[in-house]
Amino acid sequence: MSDSQQPGLRLVRERRTVALFKPEPPPRELLLAAVDAARWAPNHHLTEPWRFFLLGAASVDAMVEIAGELTLAKRGAGAAKKRRQLMEAVPHWMAVTCRRTEDAFREREDYAACCCAIQNFMLCLWEGGVACKWSTGAVTRDERFYELLGVGREDEMVVGLFSIGYPRIIPEQKRRPVGEILTELA
Ligand SMILES: Cc1cc2nc3c(=O)[nH]c(=O)nc-3n(C[C@H](O)[C@H](O)[C@H](O)COP(=O)(O)O)c2cc1C
Repeated sequence: MSDSQQPGLRLVRERRTVALFKPEPPPRELLLAAVDAARWAPNHHLTEPWRFFLLGAASVDAMVEIAGELTLAKRGAGAAKKRRQLMEAVPHWMAVTCRRTEDAFREREDYAACCCAIQNFMLCLWEGGVACKWSTGAVTRDERFYELLGVGREDEMVVGLFSIGYPRIIPEQKRRPVGEILTELA
């Protein structure tokens, strides 16, 4: 079946990670619709292990401060200034966490469910003409970021930080063909 016969498949194929955004912020309603779509992801034992955070102005300031300090220590003042500017220009920031469990297998399944939820989230945004970048950079692992979100490291893990906006540039991507990744057994 071709893509044109399956509009959903086209959405899956055409979604791209985008780093540069137009200044106008996407409507809050679309962000909420994306969270709504996220929660219909498969999740074993119906654990619904995810939480979504929409950062407001004060939280973004605090996050930019953390990122600036991390970049300053690693790559110097020029890079830190540039990083702050880039981050401040992002229209929306969201974060996703996954509940932690003592059972390692259950935790792995919950993480998988969160990733499914995030794909739903990203596809819903993309359908509305909005892109994002999923980041697992140093900020997402910094103790101060956990404090900012108000989550305890023992209770939840940050699965990703998402910069969100209307794309300025949509990069091209390639994937290996199906023949390279599919094994058909007798
Ligand atoms: C778990 C996960 C973590 C990621 N972390 C980063 C990141 O820290 N920085 C980044 O630029 N992209 C990150 N990405 C986005 C990937 O680089 C991106 O999906 C990949 O280049 C393929 O591009 P596409 O999403 O347009 O198909 C992450 C993606 C996933 C699934």
